[in-house]
Amino acid sequence: MSFHTIIWLGHAIEIIDQTLLPQQKVYITLEDPLQVFEAIKELKVRGAPAIGVAAAMGMALGAMKIKYSDKDEFMSKLNDVADLLASSRPTAKNLFWAIEKMMVIAKSGDDAPDKIIKKLERKALQIYEEDIAINKKIGENGAAVLKSGETVMTHCNAGALATAGYGTALSVIRAAVEVGKDIKVIATETRPLLQGSRLTVWELMEDNIDVTLITDSMSGHFMKDGKINKIIVGADRISANGDVANKIGTYNHAVVAKENNVPFYVAAPLSTIDADTKCGDDIPIEERNPIEVREFMGTTSTVKDVQVFNPAFDVTPNRFVSGIITECGILYPPYIKSISRVISENRVENGID
Ligand code: MRU
Repeated sequence: MSFHTIIWLGHAIEIIDQTLLPQQKVYITLEDPLQVFEAIKELKVRGAPAIGVAAAMGMALGAMKIKYSDKDEFMSKLNDVADLLASSRPTAKNLFWAIEKMMVIAKSGDDAPDKIIKKLERKALQIYEEDIAINKKIGENGAAVLKSGETVMTHCNAGALATAGYGTALSVIRAAVEVGKDIKVIATETRPLLQGSRLTVWELMEDNIDVTLITDSMSGHFMKDGKINKIIVGADRISANGDVANKIGTYNHAVVAKENNVPFYVAAPLSTIDADTKCGDDIPIEERNPIEVREFMGTTSTVKDVQVFNPAFDVTPNRFVSGIITECGILYPPYIKSISRVISENRVENGID
């Protein structure tokens, strides 16, 4: 791969600034939790698993920077770091999952702060490394759903840029291509922030994977014409019944896919599943700045001050989802059963609880 999304520098975090891609490939250094918070909020680092990894590293970084006179003060300031990072974006489950994993480590045992700091650094690196391994497994598990000669549509960016490496939806495509299947990709532009045209197109072309760009509203036309054989998208949060929160517009594609008998798959790690959220209606949906809709690539594209709705995500009800591709295999309906089974089977090994 010709880039890295996020790496730990030992005293800081390095990320590729995704707001500048594909025109500029710029790496920036995040020196403290406030900079990590801002980078997540501004989508310099984005995509549910990458946000989780950034938050874990942000916790380790925050712990290193705390000035304290006793352990109580250290723990109280560490809680503040956790609260700050958790307030960056509301929808991606991986953010809260990672912060919780880090707080469990900090609270376990009677360690002094200097030892806790070392444990947090190790845990952040573990979350990073496991994310890469999990994504490879998602790819291996999902590759079987793609047949040679098929065209797959994906929405937003669920690729290497959205994770520590490989991606989720794009890992499935990469794995199918790696075993020699002839796969073509259709990437949707993904208004308003263009994660499809800026990021998915860029990373697939970097890997020499055949990709064609369409605008979001073209997907129905190509499905009706039989030009799209499968859809694979990522997820920000999956509720216990298999409803899927993902980038705004995902729901439209899923409904049209069902109408046209196009299988619609979601690829996500178990850390994206929120077993405590019963259904999609309970998933918090981020509302973003109206400017993102009023402007296109920094230029105003409408009447100044027009009222705007700008939800970052929508929820696709489980009846539109053909399967959920995870590191532990593909889950099928009824999701209430398959999700509850996979979570209880993997509670210990994957820290899903
Ligand atoms: O607003 P973003 O760019 O963070 O939204 C990202 C998505 O919706 C992705 O599809 C999702 O996080 C899965 S990434 C593997």
